[in-house]
Order: sequence, then C-alpha cells, then structure tokens
Amino acid sequence: MAQYDVIVIGSGPGGYVCAIRCAQLGLKTACVEGRETLGGTCLNVGCIPSKALLHASHQLHEAEHNFAKMGLKGKSPSVDWKQMLTYKQETIDTNTKGIEFLFKKNKIDWIKGWASIPGAGKVKVGDETFDAKNIIIATGSEPSSLPGVEVDEKTVVTSTGALELPKIPKKMVVIGAGVIGLELGSVYSRLGAEVTVIEFLDAITPGMDGEVQKSFQRILKKQGMDFVMGAAVQKTETAKGKAKVTYKLRKDDSEHEIEADTVLVATGRKPYAEGLGLDSLGIEMTQRGQIKVGRDWQTNVKGIYAIGDVIEGPMLAHKAEDEGMAVAEQVAGKHGHVNYGVIPGVIYTHPEVANVGATEEMLKEEGRAYKVGKFMFMGNGRAKANFAADGFVKILADKETDRILGCHIIGPAAGDLIHEVCVAMEFGASAEDLALTCHAHPTYSEAVREAALACGDGPIHS
Ligand code: NAI
Repeated sequence: MAQYDVIVIGSGPGGYVCAIRCAQLGLKTACVEGRETLGGTCLNVGCIPSKALLHASHQLHEAEHNFAKMGLKGKSPSVDWKQMLTYKQETIDTNTKGIEFLFKKNKIDWIKGWASIPGAGKVKVGDETFDAKNIIIATGSEPSSLPGVEVDEKTVVTSTGALELPKIPKKMVVIGAGVIGLELGSVYSRLGAEVTVIEFLDAITPGMDGEVQKSFQRILKKQGMDFVMGAAVQKTETAKGKAKVTYKLRKDDSEHEIEADTVLVATGRKPYAEGLGLDSLGIEMTQRGQIKVGRDWQTNVKGIYAIGDVIEGPMLAHKAEDEGMAVAEQVAGKHGHVNYGVIPGVIYTHPEVANVGATEEMLKEEGRAYKVGKFMFMGNGRAKANFAADGFVKILADKETDRILGCHIIGPAAGDLIHEVCVAMEFGASAEDLALTCHAHPTYSEAVREAALACGDGPIHS
C-alpha cells in the first residue's frame, strides 16, 4: 500500500496548486482526480473556456463596431461556431496538459478515480486504499439547483452546457445577474443572441459597490442586454427544443412568461463533497453545507483539511489557490497565511469589473469615516484611443489616515489594474502612496493614480 505525506482530493486551482506546493516543500504527494483531465471546473468547464469565448466574441465586437472607425475596412468576420469551440477546446487542452506536466516535474502521483475517506489517514480510490498522513479536500462546488427548473444541459443549461451549445441561440434567457450569468450572457449577446437576464434582486452582481452595479448595468443595457429585475423565476418548461420561463415580479406578484431557445441557470453554486464519506467521519459542516475548518484549514478530524469552494468564503479560483499554498505550508510545519481582506474579484465582461476590499455600502454600515477618490476613464488618453473610455476607478480611503480601504473599477483591463491596489493594501498603503508613485504614460493605470490623487488634492485630468 502506497504511503504519502499528503493526498490532495481534487485537482482544481485549489487542489493542484496545493499539491505542487506540498511537493516543492519536500512532501511525498499524490492528487486524486476522477475527471479525464486535471484542472477541475476552472480549467475544464469554467474560468478558462469561458475566457476563450469572451476573447473571441470581444474580437468580433471590435471588428463590427470599431474597425471601420480606425480605418480598417472590409467585410466584418462571420462566426464559425464549430471553429470557435475548437479554439476553446484547444485552450482547455494546453492548460490541462500544462498541469499534467507540472505534476510530473514535481513528482506528484495522479491517482485517477473518485476518492472516499474511509478513516483518518486513509484514502480509497476504486479498490485501492492509500495511506496519507494528511488529507486535503479540495473538491470544489457545483451549480445549485432552482426549484421548478430542470436542467437538461441542452435547452436549460448550467455554465457547463452553456460552453458547449450546438449553435448560437437566437433568444437566450439567463436566470441570475451574477458573475456567470453576465459573463456568459455577454458572450452570446455579442455573438448575436437576444439576451434577457432575469434577476431576483433589484441590482445586478449582489455585494458589489452600488455605484459600480448601476454603471455596469447601464453599460450592459447599452450593449444590448435586456434586464428583468426584482423577478423570481417560478419554473421552466421545455418542448421541441424551446423553453418557456415563468417568473413573478416581486413588486406586484404578477406572473409573466418569456420564451427562449436556451435558458442559462446561473443562480449560484454550492459546495461539492459527495461520496467522500464526511458523515461517517463525523466532519462538522456549516449550515450552508460547507466543510467547517479552523484557522489552519484543519477540520475537526485531525489530519484532514479542506480548502476552496467546499469551505466558507468567496467561491473564487484564486482564493482556493492561496488557501492551497497556505495549507501546504501549514502541513510542512511552516506558517501559511491568507489575507482574506485583500482578495480581488473580477468579472470578465467588456468592460471588465474588478474590486477589492470594502464597498461604500459596507463602510456606511460600519459607520466608518471615509473619503472617495473617483476618476472616469473618459479622462484617460489611452482608453479614449482604444474606444474603452466607459467606466471609472473609485478608491475608498480612511478619512483620517488616508489608508486605502477598497477599490472598485469598471473599465478596460480592470482585472489587471486592481492588482496594484491589492499590493498597496497588503502594504497598508495610503491613497497618497499610490498618488506619489510614478505611472507610465499613456497607460490605463494612470486612471488608478488619478483616483488616488482624487482622495487628496484632486486629479489632473478631470
Ligand atoms: P452569483 O451568486 O454570483 O449570482 C447568482 C444570482 O442569481 C444572484 O444575483 C441572485 O440574486 C440570483 N437569483 C437567485 N435565485 C434567483 C431566482 N429564482 N430568479 C432570479 N434570480 C435569482 O452566482 P453565479 O453567477 O452562478 O456564480 C457562482 C459562483 O461562481 C459565484 O460565487 C462566483 O463568484 C463564482 N464565479 C466567479 C467568476 C469570476 O470570478 N469571474 C466566474 C464564474 C463564477
């Protein structure tokens, strides 16, 4: 029977990063994965394939809307959907094979199959049982279901089916104006589908800064997406490859119907830990079905840890990765740490939306004195040249100390720009620190500096 220092269950961004760090720290490591390829939801049916489609559909948008303005004439490209799916698959393949290579390089054994934990220190895969001093559960999450809505992954799909549609739908209904709904909804909208988003709340992207929510929805509307807000979906019915969605408006309880070729259900995800045998191990769970862990990511059973979507916190690949590295360090006797106060969130639409730290709403609720520095991309030369001047950077800083408390960006490359603010926050920087840092011209990042200047004596270009 093989004996390991660590067996990681699940090879998503949490699991594979954890396995690599464990091996780098000299621990004999294996990773159990039942899928045909490594990388979990993110690489196979999530972040990576969706970004390929976002990129392709954005290029089409540029060709249709901006090429002629720049003097690039000629017929606009048409969509070869089959080839676009091939490009998406190739993107997945190079990434999943990359992880296989990293496993080999770091001498990590990939145990193929689905794991269960018959007892502390033991992992069973098929008929084989392996000994492991430490077990790290990184089994991720799955789409949560909605009563009355039956997913068949053909007409009524989750994000998984939405990445594999046989053709581009004429009409698409998206249930839920969260991250998945807006990213994939905007892909199909750009590819020519008529997209209607039905959202239970009165604002899109729950939890995000209110000003960003409003601006983001306005931009998406301008791009052609339609929104039904304050509406609870009751049921979907399918017949002959079409679907009918019934929803109730919360303001007057009136019932409405809408038809679609494809319905994307994007109403959240839930932790996935099926088949592991957590019940018989007596592992404590939260009320929301997450595995309960302590500050060292250890469950109530010694030697069994959990990270990523299966525990509390935002369901984000990079949060799982950070936990993966930190728990590896803990297991190796070092001091792994994750700063949960500085975890960026990004929505990969065009424009992108990114945030880190507190929102204005959170600060108001805390009764904290703060100041706002805001700068519109309209005042940024590079953004104007690139037809990307929609949006703004908003920095929130402590009124007295000037320490940065949060940043919210809607605009070009927001998902990259946010990281200079993350680094600043890690170092406890003030808005003035950012404002005094020389930023190259002409770059989008000047908008971040201008927002920092707006926390003090004011920006230059507005
Ligand atoms: P979400 O939690 O972001 O949004 C779900 C939305 O559905 C909410 O606005 C909610 O109010 C709405 N909703 C719920 N029930 C409804 C009903 N009956 N009728 C109408 N609307 C309803 O969930 P989403 O988009 O499915 O994403 C799941 C997880 O995956 C999230 O935690 C997200 O952060 C993560 N994710 C992150 C990505 C990124 O960082 N770029 C990309 C994709 C997913």
